[in-house]
Amino acid sequence: MNYDLDFTGKTVLIVGGTSGIGNATAQGFRKNGAEVYVWGTRPSAADYSADDGSDLTGLHYQQMDVMDFDAIAAYQPPFAKLDVLVTCQGGVAYKRAEFEMATFQRIVDINLNSVMACCLKFEEMLEAAGGNIVIVGSIAGFHSTFGNPAYAASKTGVVGLVRTLGEAWAKKIRVNSVAPGFVATKLTTATTSRPDRLERAVSKIPVGRAAAPEEMAGPIMFLASPLASFMVGQSLCVDGGRLLE
Ligand SMILES: NC(=O)c1ccc[n+]([C@@H]2O[C@H](COP(=O)([O-])OP(=O)(O)OC[C@H]3O[C@@H](n4cnc5c(N)ncnc54)[C@H](OP(=O)(O)O)[C@@H]3O)[C@@H](O)[C@H]2O)c1
Repeated sequence: MNYDLDFTGKTVLIVGGTSGIGNATAQGFRKNGAEVYVWGTRPSAADYSADDGSDLTGLHYQQMDVMDFDAIAAYQPPFAKLDVLVTCQGGVAYKRAEFEMATFQRIVDINLNSVMACCLKFEEMLEAAGGNIVIVGSIAGFHSTFGNPAYAASKTGVVGLVRTLGEAWAKKIRVNSVAPGFVATKLTTATTSRPDRLERAVSKIPVGRAAAPEEMAGPIMFLASPLASFMVGQSLCVDGGRLLE
C-alpha cells in the first residue's frame, strides 16, 4: 500500500480548472507530479489572470464550452492516456432567474448534464488506465437552496449520478464526489462581496468561516488516489460542519 499523494506519471483533466476550486485542484495535482490539462470558457490561457484568481502556470489549457455536448463528444485529446477526470464546472443564477425555464435548463446543463457528457467522453480512456473520476457536487445536493431551484436540483442529480455511475463502472473506473460547502470563489462573489450576506452565510457554518479553494483540493486528490481505492459512489461533504445540525 502506497500512502503518498504522488501523481507522478499520471495525466489529469480538470474541467473547470481555470478558476476557484478547479484551479486550486489543478495546481495541487501539478505540484504532486501530474501532467494537468484544464478546460475553461475563454479563448486562450492569456485571457486568464491572477486578478481573476486564476493561476495557469504549468497547466495545459484548452477552451471548451461544456454546454456544447457535441463538441465534448468530438474532442480530440492531446494526451494519449487519462488517469483522473475531475469535473469542476459550475454555474448559478441569482435574482430568481432560476425560476425561469430557460435559465433553469442552462444551469442544469452546466452542473449536471455536462458532467455526464464528460464522463461518457472519457470512459474508454479512463478504463484503459484503470483511472477514476471525481465529480464536484455540492452540499446543495442535501438541502434546499431557497432562491436557486436549478442549482439544488442539479446538485441533487449529481449525488444520484455519482452513486449510479459508481456502481455501474465499479469494476473499471472508480467514481466519487466531493460536495463542498461555502467556498470563497468567483461563484460566490454575490455573497462574499456583501458583508451582511457573508455574515449570514458564515453564521450557519460551525467552523465560522468560508473555505479557501485549496481546502477542496486535498479531499479531491484523496478520492483520486489509491488511498481511496475502496471508495465508490460516495459524495464526501467538505463543509466546515454546515450539515451537522
Ligand atoms: N464556491 C462554493 O461555495 C461552492 C460550493 C459547493 C459547490 N461548488 C461547486 O464547485 C464547482 C466549482 O465552482 P467554484 O466555486 O470553483 O466556481 P468558479 O470559480 O466560478 O469556477 C467555475 C469553473 O467552471 C467553468 N465553467 C463555467 N461554465 C462553463 C462552461 N459553460 N463551459 C466550460 N467551463 C465552464 C469556469 O470557467 P471560466 O473560468 O472560464 O469561467 C470555471 O473554471 C462547481 O461545480 C460549483 O457548483 C462551489
